Amino acid sequence: MGTARHAHRIGILGSGNIFARYVAGMARYPELPIVRVGDIDVARAERAAVEHAVPAWGDDAELYADESVDIIVNLTPPVHHARTIVRALEAGKHVYVEKPLGTTVEEGRAVLDAAAASGRVLGSAPDTFLGSAGQTARRAVDDGLVGTPVGASAFISHSRAETWHPDPRFLFQRGGGPVMDMGPYYLAILVNLLGPIASVTAATRIGAPVRTVTAPDRAVDTIEVEVPTHASAVLTFASGVIGTALMSFDVWDTELPRIEIYGTEGTLSLPNPNNFDGDVRLRRHGDAEWTVLEPAVDLFGAVDTREQHRRGLGVRDLADAVEGGPHRANAAFAFHVLEALCAVETASREGRVVRLASDCARPAPRYTA
Ligand SMILES: NC(=O)c1ccc[n+]([C@@H]2O[C@H](COP(=O)([O-])OP(=O)(O)OC[C@H]3O[C@@H](n4cnc5c(N)ncnc54)[C@H](O)[C@@H]3O)[C@@H](O)[C@H]2O)c1
Repeated sequence: MGTARHAHRIGILGSGNIFARYVAGMARYPELPIVRVGDIDVARAERAAVEHAVPAWGDDAELYADESVDIIVNLTPPVHHARTIVRALEAGKHVYVEKPLGTTVEEGRAVLDAAAASGRVLGSAPDTFLGSAGQTARRAVDDGLVGTPVGASAFISHSRAETWHPDPRFLFQRGGGPVMDMGPYYLAILVNLLGPIASVTAATRIGAPVRTVTAPDRAVDTIEVEVPTHASAVLTFASGVIGTALMSFDVWDTELPRIEIYGTEGTLSLPNPNNFDGDVRLRRHGDAEWTVLEPAVDLFGAVDTREQHRRGLGVRDLADAVEGGPHRANAAFAFHVLEALCAVETASREGRVVRLASDCARPAPRYTA
């Protein structure tokens, strides 16, 4: 966790479901106070601000115009990301946006261009790869504990959002689905461990064209599905590693692992990348049992507690970058992940292998060797 060198004042754009988790997580960084909430639904912004003791609130335009705000944390739904990122950058703010960076490759390129033109820093979720599990796995790979990586797998099953999110429509629209909603967590981990992806091929489908929402206080009872809800992809990394990814909102129950790395000398098994912490297990060829690796960085808290769901490390990472430090959850990295996820749908629709145009460096590790 970064040590404060300067204070940066935070404005949050979008006060929906994830908002409270940012407020709780950002409390770990008193040098990054939340000074304003902006939402196109001003009544919601007011409720959120009053409940969480944020001193100012209003609509989106008031947030962009607030000169006391240095960093905008963008928690709008994915279809709004590109436009709102560009507006925030043009208003002179640094921006940290929830995943995905955009909903298309074109949107992703547009926000990278806007960030470059503005001279401001753009960062993006996920930041969970910077947690103890992601960093422990990174150290294990860097130290050669699995030998040379040969293959990798990622299995994403149903988030059951219809049962708990009051308005899960965006999860079944452009920018949603298991690929764009959950895929960023898994691919960020894989790219952080294995480097960039060179090409993607995949098959996708919609499991059920209409989903029933059962969440308490739901805004809608049913949703017409616009995006694939079941995808199976082969990711070929530039290093030659072959990754297998199953991303589905149609798999309700499974016994598959979350993420595994298969090397010439051993296998690494990682916990849920939606969390920061959890056991990373290694089994070298011939070992009788799995070994739980010593965490490479401090834990946020116990696994299976709310500590895992709080967000803010990525905002601290952005503030470090503003101060001249390494930027790990950076936009080029997020763009590469976005391009790979978009390629899943393109590959399936066009029945071909999609070669990625972008490259990215593995982010600097957080662990100290
Ligand atoms: N809900 C979760 O569990 C969760 C977890 C991790 C990441 N995320 C990500 O966080 C983001 C938000 O998700 P959510 O579940 O909080 O969504 P939500 O629909 O609950 O809330 C979004 C809020 O943004 C506001 N908004 C929409 N357009 C806006 C605009 N142009 N300017 C300002 N405000 C605008 C809406 O009025 C709403 O209050 C998404 O990118 C999602 O992928 C959500």
